[in-house]
Amino acid sequence: MHGFAYKNGTLHCEDTDLQALAQEHGTPLYVYSSGTLLDHYKRLDQALDGVDHEVAYAVKANSNLSVLRLLAEEGAGFDIVSAGELFRVIKAGGDPKKCTFAGVGKTREEIEYALKHEIYSFNVESEAELRYLNEVAADLGVIAPAAVRVNPNVDAKTHKYISTGKSENKFGVDFEAISDLYARAASELKNIHLRGLQMHIGSQLTSIDPFIEAVDKVAPLASQLKADHGIEFWSIGGGIGIVYEDSLQAGSEAWWSSKSDEERPLTLAQYGEAVVPRLKDLGLKILLEPGRAIAGNAGVLLTKCLYEKKGSAKTFKIVDAGMGDLIRPALYEGHHDIVPIKEPAGEVRKVDVVGPICESGDFFCQDRELPDFQPGDFIALMSAGAYGFVMASNYNSRPFPAEILVDGGTATVVRKRQTLDDLIAGES
Ligand code: LLP
Repeated sequence: MHGFAYKNGTLHCEDTDLQALAQEHGTPLYVYSSGTLLDHYKRLDQALDGVDHEVAYAVKANSNLSVLRLLAEEGAGFDIVSAGELFRVIKAGGDPKKCTFAGVGKTREEIEYALKHEIYSFNVESEAELRYLNEVAADLGVIAPAAVRVNPNVDAKTHKYISTGKSENKFGVDFEAISDLYARAASELKNIHLRGLQMHIGSQLTSIDPFIEAVDKVAPLASQLKADHGIEFWSIGGGIGIVYEDSLQAGSEAWWSSKSDEERPLTLAQYGEAVVPRLKDLGLKILLEPGRAIAGNAGVLLTKCLYEKKGSAKTFKIVDAGMGDLIRPALYEGHHDIVPIKEPAGEVRKVDVVGPICESGDFFCQDRELPDFQPGDFIALMSAGAYGFVMASNYNSRPFPAEILVDGGTATVVRKRQTLDDLIAGES
């Protein structure tokens, strides 16, 4: 479910007319629904009701300060991957003591910064990193709380660039090596407090099976580490997939109830129903690190059609957003539904929607049947709330778009559009 739907002939975010918003603020323009962000967070929190748990939002999905603040006010924890993300969480009023720090390449500066802010856990990805963490903590005269990321060697059946839980991926420590590593760390690393265990098998998982496989495989290990080393938490990662096709329809309760069980995408409630019974007797605090499931369908990217170009092979609709604003189609062949902001009246045409950047990979769709729209019309790229703005670049010296957070009929600019001067700030 999400807050985007046609009302009175134009696409709205909650009670805010996106046609008016695009006219007022210009395009490209990211728009987020605060109601949807909160709804998704609460659904996940409720889905885990049967166990002691915490939802640690994966900041990398959408790190706008106002988005973080909204979740911090609901009591969310945060999964961070850099000092920059921790800085953002703190600026947004989030609690560093509810932060876990993931990532394979933490630097001394980042470790020191996170230790100073007393984060909940460093989620460590190698023995070398654990030893380095011990060294930095010893230098500062503190004890570093840590969990090791186990790589369970489970096939997440997602795009190869966002699959992380197989042995050939760079992430985590082999399942078979974990027990010995904890034993060595317990006896040798005096400035480490082994506090938990972590895993994350990949992103945009649309079937429950890989989650179940990973939880079933790792649960006995988690239990053993609790008995041997007194660990208190197990983070089962993020990765819950969202609806990208039919994403406008998926905003309504009616669409979900029109689907049979086989057709219905994985819901947050189903995820909870599958994992909670497998976790509840472990006596561990369960952490979840969702990013996309909270933010993905809570945002859209609005863009304006500039030109139509009819070639001998194709019709191109050239828009003012490009791969620098939303790179998922270029990088992962990611699908984003494209809908006109004025409610379409019926005619459908096969087109490529492309951006202004000098790259053939700068497209949002190819040979897709879309409701017709013309130069001057606005369209929305749906499901762009996660891994959208955060992956933007200034390639071709194009300023970053603005970001807007909507609450009912109120739209707030939560990041100004970059100016040309912003583009060269810091250069000489
Ligand atoms: N925890 C860890 C350790 C992660 O590496 C990630 C995502 C998450 C949690 C959150 O995963 P989520 O719930 O959002 O699936 N840019 C790609 C996705 C990269 C995901 C990276 N790690 C995309 O646009 O599809």
